[in-house]
Amino acid sequence: MTGQAPPTPTTPVPDIVRAAWVDLVVTDLDRARAFWIDLIGFHETAADADTLWLRGTADSVHHSLILRRGTTPACRAIGLRVRSDADLDAVRAFHEARGCRVDEIPAGHQRGVGRMMRVDDPFGFTVEYVHHMDHAERLLMRWDLHHGAEVARLDHINLSVPDVAAAHAHYTALGFGTSETIEGPDHLYAAWMYRKPSVHDIALTEGNGPRLHHVGYAVPESSNILRLADIVAARDEPWLERGPGRHGVSAAFYLYLRDPDGHRVEVYTTDYFTGDPDHPTLRWSIDDPRRRDFWGGAVVPSWYTEAMEILDLDGRVRPTADPAAPGEVVVGADGLG
Ligand SMILES: [Fe+2]
Repeated sequence: MTGQAPPTPTTPVPDIVRAAWVDLVVTDLDRARAFWIDLIGFHETAADADTLWLRGTADSVHHSLILRRGTTPACRAIGLRVRSDADLDAVRAFHEARGCRVDEIPAGHQRGVGRMMRVDDPFGFTVEYVHHMDHAERLLMRWDLHHGAEVARLDHINLSVPDVAAAHAHYTALGFGTSETIEGPDHLYAAWMYRKPSVHDIALTEGNGPRLHHVGYAVPESSNILRLADIVAARDEPWLERGPGRHGVSAAFYLYLRDPDGHRVEVYTTDYFTGDPDHPTLRWSIDDPRRRDFWGGAVVPSWYTEAMEILDLDGRVRPTADPAAPGEVVVGADGLG
C-alpha cells in the first residue's frame, strides 16, 4: 500500500432503495379522482377534504401518489425511500455538505410515513426522503377489485434540467447507476438512473427546468395500455398525448397522457433488469432516431415544451432556466430530436 494517500473522510452516502411517490397539486379533486382512480386504476388508501393518498395493485405501502387540492397545478415533491432510519441522517449530512437546505419533518406530520428529510436539491427539486412507510393491503391478486389500466406501482420520475451533466454527477454521487444515456460529442443530453434494478428511478433530460416532465407508473401488460387508449378515445377526452409505442431507450412499451390539470403520466411496461454489479451503460447517439420511438412514431410538439412547475420547500413556484449552452439538437425529455 506504499505510495497511496491515506483515505480522506467522506460524507456517508445514504442507501436509497427506490423512487417512492410524487406529490402533485391538482385544482379539482373530483376530476383528479375520475382520471387517476377510475381511468389509470389507482386505489384509495386514505383521503381527507383536500388530499388523496393512492396506491397501485403491487404496492404494499400506503401510497405511491399524493394528490392535493390547490389553486395552481404543480409538483409539490418527489419521494425517495431509504433502507434504514439512519440513512435519513446520511441524507441530511450529504446534502448539507453541499449547501442544500434540509428540513426534518417529524413522524406524524404526514400521513402514511415516518420522519422525513425534505431536501432542496442543488437543481431546485423538492425531494422527500423517508424510511418508514405504513403498510397497506397489497391488491395484486384481488383481480375482483382491479379496474381501469390496473396500475401496479411507481416506476420512475422524469425531471427536466438545464444541465444534465451536473445533475448526473450529483445523482451518481448519491449511488445511482446509469442504465442508458443519450450523448453527442462532448454533450450529455439525457441519463436514465436507477437504484432499484430496473432501467430507472429518475431520468434526467435536458430542457427548461427545474420541471417535472412526467411520472411513469408500471402496468402488468401492454394490453392494459391498449385498453386504456381505447377507453380514453371512446370517452372523447383530450387526455391522450403520445403513443402507444415502443421506446428505444428502456425498450419499454408506453403511452403518455395528460391529466385534467396537465400533469403528464406515462403508463409503462416491460423494461429490463439492471441489478448486476457490472451492468453496462447503453449509450445512444443523438443521431440515432430509434432512441425516441423504436417504430419511428412521430412526437407531438407539446412533448418538447410543456412540463410541470416545481414548488420549493416553502410552497412557492420555482423559477426556471433554459440550458446555458444547449446542444445543437433540440432534445427534450426522453432524448427526442
Ligand atoms: Fe418515462
